[in-house]
Amino acid sequence: MLTAARNEMLTRVGPGTPMGELLRRYWQPIAGASELDGNPIKTVRLMGEDLVLYRDRGGRYGLIDRHCPHRRADMAYGWVEGTGIRCSYHGWLMDETGRCLEQPYEDTTSPKPSKAGCETKAYPVKECAGLLFAYLGPLPAPELPVWEPFTWRNGFREIVLADVPCNWFQCQENSIDPVHFEWMHDNWGARMRGADGNVAPKHLKLKFEAFDHGFVYKRVREGQSEQDRYWTVGRVALWPNGFFLGSHFEWRVPVDDENTLSVAWFFMRVPKGREPYVQERVPTWVSPLQDETGRFITSHVINQDIVAWAGQGRIADRTKEHLRSSDIGITMMRSRFFEELEAMAAGKEPGGIIRSANEAQCIALPNMAREQNTEGLTLADFDKDPLLRQRLKEFRHHYGQPPEVRRAFVEAMGISGT
Ligand code: FES
Ligand SMILES: [Fe+2]
Repeated sequence: MLTAARNEMLTRVGPGTPMGELLRRYWQPIAGASELDGNPIKTVRLMGEDLVLYRDRGGRYGLIDRHCPHRRADMAYGWVEGTGIRCSYHGWLMDETGRCLEQPYEDTTSPKPSKAGCETKAYPVKECAGLLFAYLGPLPAPELPVWEPFTWRNGFREIVLADVPCNWFQCQENSIDPVHFEWMHDNWGARMRGADGNVAPKHLKLKFEAFDHGFVYKRVREGQSEQDRYWTVGRVALWPNGFFLGSHFEWRVPVDDENTLSVAWFFMRVPKGREPYVQERVPTWVSPLQDETGRFITSHVINQDIVAWAGQGRIADRTKEHLRSSDIGITMMRSRFFEELEAMAAGKEPGGIIRSANEAQCIALPNMAREQNTEGLTLADFDKDPLLRQRLKEFRHHYGQPPEVRRAFVEAMGISGT
């Protein structure tokens, strides 16, 4: 249980709030680069700030104030040029550093046109593994961490976005909540398929460990032992707002206090014999969350998670909860946030920020799926593992994979499309 004041500290993310300032110290994934292939301008709301993301014709990414510095027109209705983005109201041109490069009327009529004071808000953007990351904190920006899976080759990658109608922190608490797998994904999944009774192996033992880039949780379920990878390696609640499960990442990126952008990045290595496989473009798609009646879609794994997150309310009321021993990880994570918030208030840099370019270029995390993703498996091996076999058959993580993404996946894997 938390006091209302402590709950606010964890959940409020606007500019100037303690948590908002903390999250701004980390690069945040905000879009797939392929989203800008059609329209090169995308509106983005991040931690309560309205922005436009764009790629200019020179290939530079920009993330600037959605409102033009002249008289506040919507830059989403502008257009990109060789350098920068131009407002469609009176033609001011801005670049990715926020400089105003042109003011057509002044440039034409004034003998010495000056643009001093006409800068706009601008944040750095970097592309990595098909994702676009933004940094909204004080400069100089830290290095963008290149997690090891971003360096893997011979794999099919895809990015899935979802607009989740609740605060980011309850989504992130799900990253350190092993027991929900047994109930939400296994037992509930079985009930929805018509099973009677709770069929999933029970959790028997949990362990949570802290490290620089978050927490590792480990578990033993009925039928498993301490020799199992789920106990010897575990899974990672990635600091500060991510989740890493071996072959995929999920981030819970705050849109504002009551909305979250779920960004998931998936990797699937092609079967042995299909190499070399080079994916030119990482597809990005948006998973719909509700059916035509307004009910949440419950057929897919992350959609099920979202039912839990959104079901806790726009901002979960943590004054009314009852934490038990299954929630030790949740308590550890909250404590670390409170510690980091205190340290920041005392002028210190929060943990897990990387300033060394060398260190940032490939960061390994505890990973149960490293071998299968780096060395590869034969199609026969896929068939022996129920999860991998299922993964080839259909995309179970998120509802709504577009047929063209499925086709590209099937082609990469060299399997039949059915
Ligand atoms: S409002 Fe954008 S140029 Fe005038
Ligand atoms: Fe889950």
